[in-house]
Amino acid sequence: MTDLSTLLLEWYAHNGRDLPWRFKGGKHPNPYIVLISEFMLQQTTVKTVLSYFAGFIERFPDIQSLAAASIDEVYQQWQGLGYYSRARSLHATAQTIVNQYAGYFPDTRSEVLQLKGIGTYTAASFLSLAYNQPETVIDGNVMRIICRLYRFTEPLSDIQDKIRTHAEKLTCPKHPADYASAIMDLGATICTPKKPQCLLCPWQKHCLSANTPDVETIPLRKKLAKQEKTGYVYLIRNRKNEIFIRKRTEKGLLSGLYEFPWSDTTPLFPNAPNTHQEIHHTFTHFKLTLHIHTLQAEEMAISGHFVSTEMLKNYALSTLMKKVANKISEL
Ligand code: ADE
Repeated sequence: MTDLSTLLLEWYAHNGRDLPWRFKGGKHPNPYIVLISEFMLQQTTVKTVLSYFAGFIERFPDIQSLAAASIDEVYQQWQGLGYYSRARSLHATAQTIVNQYAGYFPDTRSEVLQLKGIGTYTAASFLSLAYNQPETVIDGNVMRIICRLYRFTEPLSDIQDKIRTHAEKLTCPKHPADYASAIMDLGATICTPKKPQCLLCPWQKHCLSANTPDVETIPLRKKLAKQEKTGYVYLIRNRKNEIFIRKRTEKGLLSGLYEFPWSDTTPLFPNAPNTHQEIHHTFTHFKLTLHIHTLQAEEMAISGHFVSTEMLKNYALSTLMKKVANKISEL
């Protein structure tokens, strides 16, 4: 039997997207190009990145030119991509690579994870795409594919380990870079959240959910039990990297304390990108999981004000918000 990764790679050879940061057909990858594209693609769609990528590379053609630039020059090229914290992390990472690694890109997971703005996902995508290392890239698209393929119908949050095990087994050890690109493309173009095109899928015959009426319901996003709530908190930064806080006026537990805008019902800013970082907090009557989102804004229509991160310590925050504040430097 042809194995799954071979089927996927054959499909990719004919149907994979041609993207300017891709090194298809045996071309030697340029780690700088991979790094820039992976930073840009964090929380931003391929379509948006496509309109900024070439201009950025033209202005900063290599890691040295990026490291030598001022942060304002980097911001200028980043305009339109939003979320300037990513630009700041990228700039810091470029300087680390030039200053600590003499311009040579690190190629081990532990070193890459030390770089600013690089977490598990970006480390895996960078190492597989730039160095063809057998790293497994797992994002929302990959999770959806795995759950449908093996018909994992349990709540997504309960099966993270099982998903990783299966995703790792599927990864093609001989062609990890192409495999990573291929599975990203499968999720983006065929195994989409709604109306997946199972008839065009190279894994159709092997997929336990292909063409089933409930394929769109997989993966299952858990409905929380009564005592568990899910909420959204927003780290809103302006260009000066100040952060937006407001004073709680409602009566109750947290009254009078300062907070970042948050809600335990509906998202306040539905388009704000999810950082995929969460805060867990137990109140007397319920457990709360807060998903941290980021936003870039110069003014807000809600009451509150921007403060520098240094000044933040002068404001009384609840324990819940302190947990959020502790994440600021990473996000
Ligand atoms: N999303 C994250 N990295 C990507 C890549 N290299 N190609 C397409 N989509 C991506």
